[in-house]
Amino acid sequence: MPGSTTNQKLLEWVDRWSAVLQPNDIYWCDGTQEEYDRFAQSMVEQGTLIPLDDAKRPNSFLARSDPGDVARVEDRTFICTEDPDDAGANNNWREPQEMRSEMMQLFQGSMRGRTMFVVPFSMGPLGSPIAHIGVQLTDSPYVAASMRIMTRMGQGALDALGNDDWVPCVHSLGAPLEDGQEDVPWPCDAENKFIVHFPDSREIWSYGSGYGGNALLGKKCFALRIASTMARDEGWLAEHMLIVGVTPPGGETKYVAAAFPSACGKTNMAMMIPSLPGWKVETIGDDIAWMKFGSDGQLYAINPEAGFFGVAPGTGEDTNPNALATLSGNCVFTNVAETDGGDVWWEGLTDEAPARLIDWKGQTWTPESETPAAHPNARFTVPADQCPSIADAWEDPAGVPISAILFGGRRATTVPLVSEALTWEHGVFLGSVMSSEKTAAAAGTIGQVRRDPFAMLPFCGYNFGDYFQHWLNIGAQPGAQLPKLFYVNWFRKDADGRFIWPGFGENARVLKWVLERINGDVGAVETPIGMVPNPEDMDTTGLDIDTGDLQDLLSFDENEWRDELELIDEHYDSIGDRLPTEMRTQLGLLASRLGR
Ligand code: OXD
Ligand code: MN
Repeated sequence: MPGSTTNQKLLEWVDRWSAVLQPNDIYWCDGTQEEYDRFAQSMVEQGTLIPLDDAKRPNSFLARSDPGDVARVEDRTFICTEDPDDAGANNNWREPQEMRSEMMQLFQGSMRGRTMFVVPFSMGPLGSPIAHIGVQLTDSPYVAASMRIMTRMGQGALDALGNDDWVPCVHSLGAPLEDGQEDVPWPCDAENKFIVHFPDSREIWSYGSGYGGNALLGKKCFALRIASTMARDEGWLAEHMLIVGVTPPGGETKYVAAAFPSACGKTNMAMMIPSLPGWKVETIGDDIAWMKFGSDGQLYAINPEAGFFGVAPGTGEDTNPNALATLSGNCVFTNVAETDGGDVWWEGLTDEAPARLIDWKGQTWTPESETPAAHPNARFTVPADQCPSIADAWEDPAGVPISAILFGGRRATTVPLVSEALTWEHGVFLGSVMSSEKTAAAAGTIGQVRRDPFAMLPFCGYNFGDYFQHWLNIGAQPGAQLPKLFYVNWFRKDADGRFIWPGFGENARVLKWVLERINGDVGAVETPIGMVPNPEDMDTTGLDIDTGDLQDLLSFDENEWRDELELIDEHYDSIGDRLPTEMRTQLGLLASRLGR
């Protein structure tokens, strides 16, 4: 039965696509709990979902994907613009018409034997002026159910849409069922995936994968790649950032957004339990921030998502107790291990692994096994409002005013614990040179640095040169009350390869300095790379750190920075000729501050 909508364009679009995709039937999602339960039940019968023990983890399920469909596929992700320069060197470009005809052949009849779900969804609180609406067609009930956790999905989104425009998202697993053909638990076309974006018409076409960011099209495809182009055209920001509210004892809450590349602890920071007595950190979002200017000139942010799609391995009582508490029920786990008692396990959940598990491939696993029990990219999908640290303001349609933006990465050397940008343009420079090293192994050999500007390398839907210019334009907006920009690094190591900074809840000390800088309450020393706290500006009460280590954390080494200049120069060369001249100006200023 069609959803209740008078949106003629939407009805026609659904008709047109169903003629191409040829599903057995069409189902409009209403977004109710009863509907979700029905989807889950049918997936249990089909073998896609395994119910977990209700006494341990109520209303929760485990899915095991096809081993060929376990992660985002960046080499199969395309940006299709008329002019290849609009996509930039940071994207895989394909000519739009050519890509459309290639994919139309794949889509032809690709839903035969299956139901096509029409999934209306809002990215952001329903009716928020910062939110936007999409409609996804999919033949995957796993995707339809996951979209109910990750977005505001169903009739409410249709009502909010009215007769307006939406971002059309077409998704097919590419696994049609012929008459009498038996289905498999995780249908896909593993050898033939396409994750395709047409920014000019704001369309998303995805084929062949049922996993995560390839298939839940509201997340990376819409909320980052397409939304970044919308934001460029309309003067706002769609960013790969967490958002937290930080409240000092008896003080006012300030909102901070932070961009970190993968595996740098974004979800941990979003759910941080601060070590400083009386301080509160509350979660607004853990992955994506949409920010628009309010009438007061401040940037107001929403988390466009409604759930967390987090990496399970490494999530434990020590690293993120709030995440574990969030996972107490109503979860879909994908590619984690299953315990004998009908619960889940992954590396890092407990110090000691259970004596026997079923691994993510469905095989018996023991601690002697040579492969991990959970896939390293195993995920949980869970409603955000179950998080103990979720902020009251997380669903405020007006968004929260952002006072500071942190950029960061994993650097064993060179980059101090925290520094504040000298100007907005200098902050954009810092975002544009963001970098991270591979983990523990070779304690930060300069050559191993990977540049990931604004943590957007796989997610910026257009040319990075234009994107840096857009950030500069945001700063030049008349009347803007801009957030302060900072660069942080929790991962500095000493000569023996030991982390100097304890991280996690102790990062609250850095947030305290950031808030005090915003309020003008604390000192800093001006260095060539920005404003850095004097050791006495950092609150180290109750922290076991020796003075030498603190000094190292807050110091910078001129020689390291001279090497860095060359690496940044090469990085800028790779962006191409749309790199704004201001970025080279900033590099020149840094060089001259370093006496070069
Ligand atoms: C994610 C990612 O899944 O950044 O959030 O890859
Ligand atoms: Mn992410």
